[in-house]
Amino acid sequence: MAADDPDKRAAAEAAALLVQSGMRVGLGTGSTVAFLLPALAARGLTGLRCVATSIDTAQKATALGLPVESFDALDRLDIAIDGADQVAPDGWVVKGGGGAHTREKLVAAAADRFVVIVGENKLVAALHPNIPLELHQFGLPSTLRRLGGRAEVRAGWPPSPDNGVIADYTAAFDDPEALAAQLAATVGVVDHGLFPPALTSDVLIAHAGEVEHRVL
Ligand code: 5RP
Repeated sequence: MAADDPDKRAAAEAAALLVQSGMRVGLGTGSTVAFLLPALAARGLTGLRCVATSIDTAQKATALGLPVESFDALDRLDIAIDGADQVAPDGWVVKGGGGAHTREKLVAAAADRFVVIVGENKLVAALHPNIPLELHQFGLPSTLRRLGGRAEVRAGWPPSPDNGVIADYTAAFDDPEALAAQLAATVGVVDHGLFPPALTSDVLIAHAGEVEHRVL
């Protein structure tokens, strides 16, 4: 378990209360989710079916007795809960600090309710670089050329579980929607860490022991 962080813990514990017995649950990745897993396990809910967005989360959840299964077995989730790197006032979110953004977006998109859990320090006035990317290994130099020198491969990072190369878009931008569309249209980009407001249902923001619950 990582060092205690009262805000991350408070947001995660509030999110754990949104899960009910019998739900199909998407589990995110990162240090905030590391507080969610024991809080969820401690609830003693029955009939949960969990999908993990990373091997790390799958291992932690399984060790706590949460039933994790392959995402191949489920086409829809009731709820997914995950941390974030940036949350803008209009609901745009940046994820992928841990390099798991492709699987995180797939799980979020499968969920009827996607809940973002953050400490107040993740709130930003406007999204800013870096924006995490996952790139195809095949033809990587040509993909980087198409990205116009505005992307850098993360040095020393292992490939994603899907064999993607973890990188970051590093240039300044004004319009997240335009950048998301541009990245999605760039051949060789598997996915990016820009999550549009339509993907998120709730944001739980913790500060000094209080949790603000924003419904989008
Ligand atoms: C991993 C993620 C994480 O959710 C994000 O980086 C936040 O991490 P943390 O909870 O450790 O602050 O997107 O890919």
